[in-house]
Amino acid sequence: MALNADPTDLTGKTCIVTGVNGGIGQSTAEHFLAQGARVFATDVAGSYTGVPHADLIYVRFDLLLDTGLEGAVQWVQACQPDVLFNNAALFDMGSVLDADLTQMDRLFGVNVRAFYALLQSEARGLLSKSKGSIINMASQAGHRGEALVAHYCATKAAVISYTQSAALALASHGIRVNAISPGVIDTPMWKTVDGLFARFEGKEPGQKKREVGEAVPLGYMGAPEDVARVAVFLASQQSEYITAQTICVDGGNVLR
Ligand SMILES: NC(=O)c1ccc[n+]([C@@H]2O[C@H](COP(=O)([O-])OP(=O)(O)OC[C@H]3O[C@@H](n4cnc5c(N)ncnc54)[C@H](O)[C@@H]3O)[C@@H](O)[C@H]2O)c1
Repeated sequence: MALNADPTDLTGKTCIVTGVNGGIGQSTAEHFLAQGARVFATDVAGSYTGVPHADLIYVRFDLLLDTGLEGAVQWVQACQPDVLFNNAALFDMGSVLDADLTQMDRLFGVNVRAFYALLQSEARGLLSKSKGSIINMASQAGHRGEALVAHYCATKAAVISYTQSAALALASHGIRVNAISPGVIDTPMWKTVDGLFARFEGKEPGQKKREVGEAVPLGYMGAPEDVARVAVFLASQQSEYITAQTICVDGGNVLR
């Protein structure tokens, strides 16, 4: 590539974005579009909640349902994407003493089972292209257990592990697999998270969100675009020698 060419250009690439109606999913879809990609997007709602774009095609799947997941797996194969942004996830709280198997099934159903099925579908499709990039959404929660967040932390540790296994299995096929590990990013998910901490730790509404932002070494919560820019990097030629990594986008929260 010429030195003056844009190494993050995604023109001609097709990218799948799951969880596109969430904060990080929507921003990433917009960044992929801005770099010239065509985006196939999905979420559980009936329609895309972002600004419509001629190169964004939305389809609804509920990844918790077998029928939804089977449909999504076939859709990934049919779209033949160059990039998968494997982003949809659920959050919930509970310690090992009180988090039940129903919560475990829901969180593992979306964050691990559906995540894995889509990764596998994308990987199979990419074999014939002998190139491609899979970007998984991990979390700082995947690096360290938390007393009140047992199941969610475990799902995100699984994402980091599958990222490494998939990257090593697919490296000889020219397919790269990486994860992004956000710290605290200001998205709609934080309304749920803050409300749950208010209940579990007796905090005022908004208190937990304020506290976690102040505790970040850089001093504030991240924005969805902080993650989206790294997703563009991992999707593009700019990162062509990077695989099997989990990149922390967390203002310094996790030291490895
Ligand atoms: N926001 C943060 O602070 C933070 C921190 C670490 C990791 N993450 C991870 O980043 C990713 C995006 O998070 P976000 O903050 O944008 O969350 P979000 O809640 O705004 O978005 C998540 C999206 O996933 C979708 N989803 C959930 N269940 C689904 C199902 N059954 N079928 C289809 N779609 C479903 C939701 O509808 C939602 O649009 C997630 O993987 C999350 O775990 C977020």
